[in-house]
Amino acid sequence: MRRFLLLAHRVPPNGAFTLNDLAGGAGRMDEVARAVSTAFTLSNDLRRDTEVSILFVAEPPPVARRIDVVGARVRYLNPDERSTAALLKNALVRSAGYPRELESSPGLRVGPVDPATALAEFLRSPGAVWLTEAGSPFAGWDSPEGAIAAVVSDPYEPNEAELEILRGSGVPQLSVGPRSLRTSQVIDLVHAALDGREPRPVPPTPAIGPASGGSPPTSA
Ligand SMILES: C[S@@+](CC[C@H](N)C(=O)[O-])C[C@H]1O[C@@H](n2cnc3c(N)ncnc32)[C@H](O)[C@@H]1O
Repeated sequence: MRRFLLLAHRVPPNGAFTLNDLAGGAGRMDEVARAVSTAFTLSNDLRRDTEVSILFVAEPPPVARRIDVVGARVRYLNPDERSTAALLKNALVRSAGYPRELESSPGLRVGPVDPATALAEFLRSPGAVWLTEAGSPFAGWDSPEGAIAAVVSDPYEPNEAELEILRGSGVPQLSVGPRSLRTSQVIDLVHAALDGREPRPVPPTPAIGPASGGSPPTSA
């Protein structure tokens, strides 16, 4: 299982933003939506072995929200940023002021969260890592049975409280390259690195039968 926890620092957790201003008033929901879509979408398929949790921490509890997207069940997730943002916004709006978790659409659960507790809990998962520019090379990390539970931030750095939890957890800090990348790019590179460690499917053996086209030409 590949799991990602995305820290979304400025998106209004009550969903009070317009889809026409994702990079502005929506607190960089464009990047959050792009990261979610990148985590799941392949060319003409979805990664069913992936789960993404997003912590919307722009306001403390009881307003803070968590959305869990489960690849095995998710529907209505398309590759484009705007429709993914709409799916997430719908979840946040439906959950606003509601005291319990609910399923806003298939494979998408949303509810109130205590961000510090959720982050600490996630960091106790098998294969927990913190993706950060300052980490050691991802290539040198051995994932337990191909599993990963990676914390990644949005365009804003983790805040002091998050840094304390991340550092205190003792999980490996990993970097996918020397440059500071967009969140979605980091997720893409992690998927590609883990895909590369999986056994390649064996191509079907061509059937052996009588030659039909005569002998190949000889050059004599
Ligand atoms: C856009 S970056 C954060 C802002 C960036 N640090 C800056 O200076 O503007 C988004 C997140 O992606 C992850 N990230 C970016 N580059 C990375 C890299 N080379 N290796 C691992 N994680 C990276 C980190 O979690 C980072 O917080």
